[in-house]
Amino acid sequence: MSEQRDIKTTREEHPLPAVVTHWVHLVAIGVLIWTGFFIHSPFYSGSMANNRTFHLIFAWVLLSTAMVRLYWAFIGRSAPPGSRHEIRDYKFFAPQPENRGKFLPMLQYYFFLRRTHPKTAKYNPLQKGAYAFWGFLIVLQAITGFELWTPTASFFQPLTYALGGPVIVRIIHYLIMWLFVVTVALHIYLVFVEVVQELPLMFWWRETSPEPGKKR
Ligand code: HEM
Ligand code: HEM
Repeated sequence: MSEQRDIKTTREEHPLPAVVTHWVHLVAIGVLIWTGFFIHSPFYSGSMANNRTFHLIFAWVLLSTAMVRLYWAFIGRSAPPGSRHEIRDYKFFAPQPENRGKFLPMLQYYFFLRRTHPKTAKYNPLQKGAYAFWGFLIVLQAITGFELWTPTASFFQPLTYALGGPVIVRIIHYLIMWLFVVTVALHIYLVFVEVVQELPLMFWWRETSPEPGKKR
């Protein structure tokens, strides 16, 4: 079990802009998956036009908040777990010396082949990989999504036909949604088993301290 749990959480670790953008990302991804499933194959007697409209609204919400979060990473500051000493936030997403050689040990830990959590930076190598992967997937969803959206479709037509036509693009967009479903499920599972103490902070911006004397 992770010794990471026995740590105090500080507001400096996840400052308000990170908490607010995290909320918006969560809601936007949720609405996009819900309406996306509906567009793919209606699973209740709702309106296709409304689902398409919501899908597009939340696509813009996701893209603009992702850009705000990225921008804030460069102008904002945050701290490592348990600390109030802030540095530029993007540094926690870039390679850090504490993570050197920790990729395989982390993988072994996640696959139950190692008992203890390796000592890593604020975000371990797999976590950083997952966050970068989401950034990449959002770009792919935006490109394939705008290829399918009537007002922008003609602009993307050469790319659409290079990929094999709108049917293929739709299938790619749909399959990438599944990558979100699987990786977000893993993110939630890992939060609950590894860093539950971060939840009050990430959702309500509330600091917590480990219960004195409690061994997990
Ligand atoms: C119920 C759903 C979710 C829960 C409970 C949750 C919880 C958390 C928690 C507790 C952290 C802090 C982890 C740490 O400090 O090590 C975190 C970080 C993060 N989460 Fe989530 N999350 C959820 C959904 C999402 C979604 C849908 C996305 C976007 C695709 C997302 C993106 C991120 C990112 C990028 C971080 C890194 C920290 C930051 O941006 O400030 N999360 N999440
Ligand atoms: C980021 C910008 C995005 C844009 C501009 C966009 C746009 C669109 C459009 C226009 C359609 C309608 C296709 C049609 O009517 O045939 C669509 C379908 C869909 N979208 Fe998105 N989308 C975006 C992001 C996402 C995300 C993040 C997800 C899921 C995580 C998602 C999941 C889906 C699914 C599952 C469908 C149905 C595909 C199918 O019919 O098989 N979209 N999207």
